[in-house]
Amino acid sequence: MNAAITAVGGYVPDFVLTNKILEGMVDTNDEWIVSRTGIKERRILRGEGLGTSFMAIHAAKDLIQKSNLDPASIDLVIVATATPDMQAASTAAYTASQIGAVNAFAFDLDAACSSFLFGMSVASSYIETGRYKKVLLIGADKNSSMINYEDRATCIIFGDGAGAVLFEPNEEGYGVQDEYLRSDGSGRDYLLVKYGGSSFPLEHTHIDNKEQFVFQDGKNVFKHAVFNMADVSERILDRNNLSKDDIAWLAAHQANKRIIDATANRIGLEDEKVMMNIQKYGNTTSGTLPLLLFDYESQLKKGDKIIFAAFGGGFNWGALYLTWAYDPR
Ligand code: UT7
Repeated sequence: MNAAITAVGGYVPDFVLTNKILEGMVDTNDEWIVSRTGIKERRILRGEGLGTSFMAIHAAKDLIQKSNLDPASIDLVIVATATPDMQAASTAAYTASQIGAVNAFAFDLDAACSSFLFGMSVASSYIETGRYKKVLLIGADKNSSMINYEDRATCIIFGDGAGAVLFEPNEEGYGVQDEYLRSDGSGRDYLLVKYGGSSFPLEHTHIDNKEQFVFQDGKNVFKHAVFNMADVSERILDRNNLSKDDIAWLAAHQANKRIIDATANRIGLEDEKVMMNIQKYGNTTSGTLPLLLFDYESQLKKGDKIIFAAFGGGFNWGALYLTWAYDPR
């Protein structure tokens, strides 16, 4: 039994934070941002009390509406996110209730920028074992909630957004074929929100020093991302005896266009086969992979071999090989 993606949904907030606007906020410029990252604009969720669940719910409802899915038939809702609504209450439980998944259980899954990729592994395993028939995996992050908009090293990169996919059993062999997932905790000091968790609960001094926000040693993360994302992508091709000509698409975490290009180059893939939307959304953390599927769904054909790859905080990274299960609807 394979676990196939059978439906896709997505949502990005309306407000567009352009490079031009950022030029008025920090010492940066459009030319630098585009040449170093490939990002032209990103979306920001505004509105009091609106958190990650707001986008997760919209993405899930988009999927439900497009695929005529009865939400009561969903067995499990996983919200992959690094920015849950609240410290203790599950974002997934709230999301499931709001979309009418009344018979589902739900949980959050956090592996930083690899949350959705690792979520694909978890969701597909539940299907492959035969335990559940419909698993809704949502990748959603409100990164703007943890960004210091006075820090040009991070505020130009991140955006908000969400995407959702449904995993169902497939007896024709389509769906997840293989995965290669890794973690290395020695990298955690390079990309983190240090304060506000259980090690260092938030205190006034942290807020005074703006320490409740993301810190990233970009150069170091970049180096590890380039090496590792390319490495796992190459390994997954090798061990499945795939050549570059067999691959229809690379769906890589949208953190930096140069990292994506390096991964594509390592496996020799032409630009036309590389899904790219970083220019529109920036890095939406758990949202990047499902938002790629959301934007490219109309171009995907039954049988297309897709390599997913991600790298992010932790460090966590990996690659997953999936065959697409349906033609454009
Ligand atoms: O999704 C999770 C994983 N995250 C990633 O994969 C992100 C990985 N890292 C990166 O994408 C890149 O390292 C960045 C985009 C964050 C930075 O790009 P970079 O090419 O590594 O720049 P840099 O940090 O080496 O900085 C180069 C120069 C520096 O100036 P000097 O020292 O050469 O004079 C920086 O001060 O660019 C300067 N700089 C900027 N200039 C204009 C840094 N940020 C900016 C900025 N605008 N926003």
